[in-house]
Amino acid sequence: MEKLLIKGGKSLKGTIMCAGAKNAALPMIAATILSSESVVLKNLPYLQDITTMFELLGSMGAEIILNENMDFNISSNSLSDTEARYELVKTMRASILVLGPLVAKYGKARIALPGGCAIGSRPVNFHLDALEQLGAKIVLRNGYIEATADRLIGTKIRFDGVTVTGTENIMMAASLAEGTTHLTNVAKEPEIEDLANLLNAMGANIQGAGTEEIIISGVKELNGTSFSIPADRIEAGTYLVAAAVTNGSVLVNGINPQRLTKVIQKLEESGATISTTKDSISLSMENKKLKPVDITTAPFPEFPTDMQAQFSVMNAIASGTSNIYETVFENRFMHIQELNRMGCDIEINGNQAIIKGVDSLYGAEVMATDLRASASLILAGLCASGQTTVSRIYHIDRGYERIEEKLNYLGAEILRLPS
Ligand code: EPU
Repeated sequence: MEKLLIKGGKSLKGTIMCAGAKNAALPMIAATILSSESVVLKNLPYLQDITTMFELLGSMGAEIILNENMDFNISSNSLSDTEARYELVKTMRASILVLGPLVAKYGKARIALPGGCAIGSRPVNFHLDALEQLGAKIVLRNGYIEATADRLIGTKIRFDGVTVTGTENIMMAASLAEGTTHLTNVAKEPEIEDLANLLNAMGANIQGAGTEEIIISGVKELNGTSFSIPADRIEAGTYLVAAAVTNGSVLVNGINPQRLTKVIQKLEESGATISTTKDSISLSMENKKLKPVDITTAPFPEFPTDMQAQFSVMNAIASGTSNIYETVFENRFMHIQELNRMGCDIEINGNQAIIKGVDSLYGAEVMATDLRASASLILAGLCASGQTTVSRIYHIDRGYERIEEKLNYLGAEILRLPS
């Protein structure tokens, strides 16, 4: 298995461009199932999770062509199969995103039940309850979700809990349902709005995405379109933290700062100087000492759980004590033990991490456990003295496009060691 070797202590400086957002791209690829024509997706990030989603669609008979502009032309309009097998689902939970589109378009789906994962048990009951309310019949058999419906019927649905992919699944399904669907207690993440924009460009009628209530007037058919994936706010946030922990100065282009309001607020609280334009964010932490910031993760517009591990590193080298409360996932502190092996002083108490800032970190051999945990270990390696080796980096390749190349471009020294 490949590893990353990080020679720490370099201050990051420069400008980088954000890649397309993984968590916007995955539901959009699934949404192509709803279309009667091919859909062109531009600015797809080069990530393992995107490859897995293509593999999944390909296994069901979709035709995916990479054109001369590096855009993907996806024809999912005559699938020969409506099954998502366990081999693929177990490698990527977001495979569940094909459930709603398959039932809406083909009247049936057989999807392996995703199991637990490194960050929590992550059930899909909210997806299934809502799909049943749209009229689907759902049976759980032999580790699979078997869903059938003649035509889904629009209704009023209040989600039992806020779920990002659940909201996306049902928004997609309701686009082809008969009548109108009102969704409340929905996720308001920017990626929900992005998906609604794509679906509307395909001929759907969705209003209110990104707000408290989403209203979907079902249509009979969706058509093809061409759509560019917006920038990845978590990637942008991670590079800003990389600049902060190395007392550097970085400009991230291509990102709308309104997608990171809470993160920017917390970076400013930590002492960073931030300036923004409508599509860029710059951060400078040169000649300054980080201040500790308390954080509570929660659904958008609150502080994103996907930035929690990165902020743990920032707080770990800040001058004082801070508290991080993780309220979205029950087990998202797996990086803490590894960070402590690099000299951090962090104690876990249930869903709270109590972080006592230390003057410096030292390099060590550490192991990635999930995507954002791996990002935090790389950040720690960047500001530690000596060498850090991060193993199991397949986690990072799922969600960060060529991370070592981008960080090296900013002045880091990271080598990818072959297995
Ligand atoms: N939940 C349930 N039942 C459900 C669905 C969710 O109990 O049916 C619980 C989950 O266990 C969790 C909470 O609700 O405790 C929120 O989970 P959510 O469904 O919102 O998460 P998700 O849709 O599976 C997406 C992102 C995650 C991100 C979360 C939260 C994608 C593909 N994934 O996951 O991204 O952390 O929303 O913002 O959009 C990542 O990129 O590293 C990542 C994990």
